[in-house]
Amino acid sequence: MCGIFGYKGKKVKLSCLLDGLQRLEYRGYDSCGVAAYNAGNFLCKKNSGKITQLKTNLKANLGNQYSLALLHTRWATHGQPTKANAHPHKSFKKNIYMVHNGIIENYLDLKNKLKGKGYKFKSDTDSEVAVNLIASHYRGSIEKAVFSAVKELKGSFALAVFSESEPDKVVGVRNKSPLLVGVSPQGYFLASDLPAIVPLAKEAVYLKEKQVVVLDSNKINIYDFQQKKVKVNKEKIKIKNEEAKKKGFKHFMLKEIYQQPKVLQDALNIYTKKNQINFNQLKLSKSYLKGIKNIFITACGTAFHAACVAKYFLERHTKIKIEVDTSSEFRYRDFNVDKGDLFIAISQSGETADTLAALKKAKKQKAKVLSICNVLGSSLVRESDSFIYTPAGPEIGVASTKAYTAQLFCLYLFSLYLATIKGTVSGREKNKMLEELSRVPFHQRKILKQTRKISAIAKKFSKMGCFLFLGRGINFPSALEGALKLKEISYIPAEGYPAGEMKHGPIALIDEYRAVVCIAPMDSLHEKMTSNLQEIKARKGKILAIINPADKAILSFADQAVYIPKLKFQEFSPLLVAVALQLFAYSVAKNLGAEIDQPRNLAKSVTVE
Ligand code: M6R
Repeated sequence: MCGIFGYKGKKVKLSCLLDGLQRLEYRGYDSCGVAAYNAGNFLCKKNSGKITQLKTNLKANLGNQYSLALLHTRWATHGQPTKANAHPHKSFKKNIYMVHNGIIENYLDLKNKLKGKGYKFKSDTDSEVAVNLIASHYRGSIEKAVFSAVKELKGSFALAVFSESEPDKVVGVRNKSPLLVGVSPQGYFLASDLPAIVPLAKEAVYLKEKQVVVLDSNKINIYDFQQKKVKVNKEKIKIKNEEAKKKGFKHFMLKEIYQQPKVLQDALNIYTKKNQINFNQLKLSKSYLKGIKNIFITACGTAFHAACVAKYFLERHTKIKIEVDTSSEFRYRDFNVDKGDLFIAISQSGETADTLAALKKAKKQKAKVLSICNVLGSSLVRESDSFIYTPAGPEIGVASTKAYTAQLFCLYLFSLYLATIKGTVSGREKNKMLEELSRVPFHQRKILKQTRKISAIAKKFSKMGCFLFLGRGINFPSALEGALKLKEISYIPAEGYPAGEMKHGPIALIDEYRAVVCIAPMDSLHEKMTSNLQEIKARKGKILAIINPADKAILSFADQAVYIPKLKFQEFSPLLVAVALQLFAYSVAKNLGAEIDQPRNLAKSVTVE
């Protein structure tokens, strides 16, 4: 899960290349580097830390122009984030440079073999083994060396390679890790993901699995691993060049939290018209949808929590059996998916390796695949039979916020659409729910207005050493998501739990030093929640309650409260709870001085297994 950026064409400034790499920084940011060449001038620089550091180190060179370059931003898998382990890696012999995304599973075997041939290694990475393997096959043609090497490599890898002896040529490889080529009048850009090239290219060529691209003297040629030439399919890039700017917000995360009402309004505008839900663009016929037997939903992290919320709503209103699992488990299970089953994969990035693998497995078993995704043109969208686009726009903060509520919102709409087709929800009821959904952006704004209050509460809680987040029913996944948000950006241990399970173990944790965040809107489980909270209070736990206004019962013993508007259909409350918990996590992390947009050890898109 690293970012690869490459270039071959007319001369461009180093600053432009580094900007391109920076647009991939969400994929990893523990170390980075560049190797660039022009007319005999060669540059290679790496450092641990972020790209701003690399830019500072290369201050004197930023205006220099290069016709060929490989750049990389790393998320460490093998070896610590040191300068020696940063990419590009140079081969011990033959002066070949390479950047890599993925994991070479048989790197130890290969390393031993290469050591036997006299190769020496400077890093702990699997990537350095791959570049030396290529060097061991090099006889004057870099693409031929690459073709031979990929036969021996096991695992997932996207590679970009060049040889100092052929400084007019860049070779790219895709094998279970994404790689695409941006085409512009200036030249060709290689990138792990589309956002990197959007400001630079109008067309893109998406490499397919087990393909090699050779960018040579302003020509592009693509081959399969058997060296057979394949057709180059250029596609227009449809996404807009939305420059990532914080627009007055201190962090991208805060900006993205604030964008949520607008995102949901956009979703309403796209998928509803005059009280009708319109998913007519879906490539799944109404007769197919009507006959669905089971629905399997899979996703990772925050997207998985969206899937868990959807399960409650979908099974209630469509009466279809729903199964939800994290992709990293689902893909290794012996599940039986049938032709009449629908498989839904949810992902912000559309590049999450485990979700893609789960999708491929379901497809093999002939299930129809629907993806819910925030990136048009992503691998997930391209592999699916049909997709629902979540119009959240680029999400830069590593902690997912607006993508989550966009996923939830689209899932609510899709559930109602399906229930209407199946006749399990009446037109009247659907209209009422749709009306309620259309008011959610307004309600979310009310919560955003409490930012100051929430940050004052967060100040009081930010010294607590451990948090439990409790919810019931459709808000149990909200508890999971609240805990994930807090731990990933503040590094405080936090656990999400179904409140009813407390007495089966976790209540042993409770004392005056533990904070408990309770999600308790006035729904059918409210009384049960109230009892659970009293049990916590009796054991001196510090309670932050997320409740509806005028909830006197809980207010009488909660230490602090954040109010979320009461809805006619409390099933939609996760859309409001999320905003309150995001603001809380953000404020705690800010109080602790944590690095909010790029938390340690994480990356935005997880393309390794
Ligand atoms: O791009 P995806 O939605 O597939 O990513 C899934 C998870 O990696 C992601 O939600 C992750 O858990 C976030 N950091 C959570 O904030």
